[in-house]
Amino acid sequence: MDIIGFAGRYARSDITRFHMPGHKGTPLVGAEPLDITEISGADSLYAAEGIIAESERKTSAAFGSARSLYSAEGSSLSIKSALLMLRIFFGRKIRIAAARNCHRAFIDGCALTGAEAVWIYPQKRESLCTVGITPSDVGKTLELGDIDCVYITSPDYYGSIADISRIARQCHQKNALLIVDNAHGAYLAFAGEPAMHPLALGADIVCDSAHKTLPVYTGGAYLHISADAPSELCSLAKPAMAMLGSTSPSYLILASLDNCAKLLHGSLPDEIKRACRRVCGIKKLMSERGIPDLSAEPLKITIDCAAVGYYGYEFADMLRKSKMECEYSDKRAVVLMLSPYNTQRDFARLEEFLQNVKIKDAIRLTAGVLNTPLRAVLSIRQASLSACELLPAADSVGRICARPALNCQPSVAAVMPGEMITRECAEICAENGIDSIAVVKEQQRR
Ligand SMILES: Cc1ncc(COP(=O)(O)O)c(C=O)c1O
Repeated sequence: MDIIGFAGRYARSDITRFHMPGHKGTPLVGAEPLDITEISGADSLYAAEGIIAESERKTSAAFGSARSLYSAEGSSLSIKSALLMLRIFFGRKIRIAAARNCHRAFIDGCALTGAEAVWIYPQKRESLCTVGITPSDVGKTLELGDIDCVYITSPDYYGSIADISRIARQCHQKNALLIVDNAHGAYLAFAGEPAMHPLALGADIVCDSAHKTLPVYTGGAYLHISADAPSELCSLAKPAMAMLGSTSPSYLILASLDNCAKLLHGSLPDEIKRACRRVCGIKKLMSERGIPDLSAEPLKITIDCAAVGYYGYEFADMLRKSKMECEYSDKRAVVLMLSPYNTQRDFARLEEFLQNVKIKDAIRLTAGVLNTPLRAVLSIRQASLSACELLPAADSVGRICARPALNCQPSVAAVMPGEMITRECAEICAENGIDSIAVVKEQQRR
């Protein structure tokens, strides 16, 4: 019996539900009959011994990990759990070198666990969402010494991919663990050769949002631990996740993760490879028409709209008028995420649009990223747990940031908690549509 089979059999049975949830299986929205709680036989996510444990093992086998845990609260939970697991593993606060294009879950994880973030400032920075971290950038930060772990976001929201295998070797030479936020790349494990999933490239801990690129309900994610990572992590991961996650994880999400595990042992890997070939054809068409694609991912297209004379927002509207909704757009680009579940009609629609869109003179955009590293005067934890007030970005100069200042959907912060806000930083915020910043209240600091 598997999770989905169990939930389906229970839904068809004539059993009276004197247990949570309150809908009692009545199909009000539609999926309620399958939405159950930890009843006998259903297993329990944080003390899994039955069908949930079996399903996680199936997923672990598909990804080739030592252990893969399910999260019903996205990679956000996986990332925070990874930091807590490492806090317990090291038995002290950890020092973690991280690229600044991290998701806010990482910053919140640092606040919760007291981890000290040592920011990796790359040579080349293009936007808040993409920073192009190279092994040399990581190497320089590792030279600072006493780094317990390195944290990389790859792929990033634009589809840039870091050189994980070289970064992993550098980390291991310096006795540091490598954590990869692979929220956007769960499918990479099945995209064919060369290997692209961070686990296959030497990362120790990988967080995947299954729901972003695999056929999984929103919220379904994984926390993978590599067979080459310290084996103790495998037993620390569940208790860490249990401390942060809800005690009522959605059974619908678990059933969906279970279904995906089955598909990954069936035809889905071939379907993913087929979709990658189809997208490769679209990328070729773009290249022939001189439309730059900023994504290195096989199932993500990031159209550099500014290079062909459009603002990203404007291009997204044009796509919308042609019945296509993008994942994300900003001043420069539009991000499209494709999967085997897009139909031939979807692909044809996009091809027709790209074939016919008028190419205009490029729009020149300013980079809008910080050139001078910001000075941290409080730790992320101290600043995040302080009382704060919201100020217009222009009035926040000279104050200490209390909460990550976010603009875009990927939740990449322009300024981190604990950092002193400079004039340049306030200007970058304004340029990136961040109107206000939460700053530490003055009396709180005294
Ligand atoms: C790079 C990155 N990491 C982590 C997350 C959080 O993932 P989830 O939405 O699965 O919690 C996101 C969400 O957009 C993301 O873009």
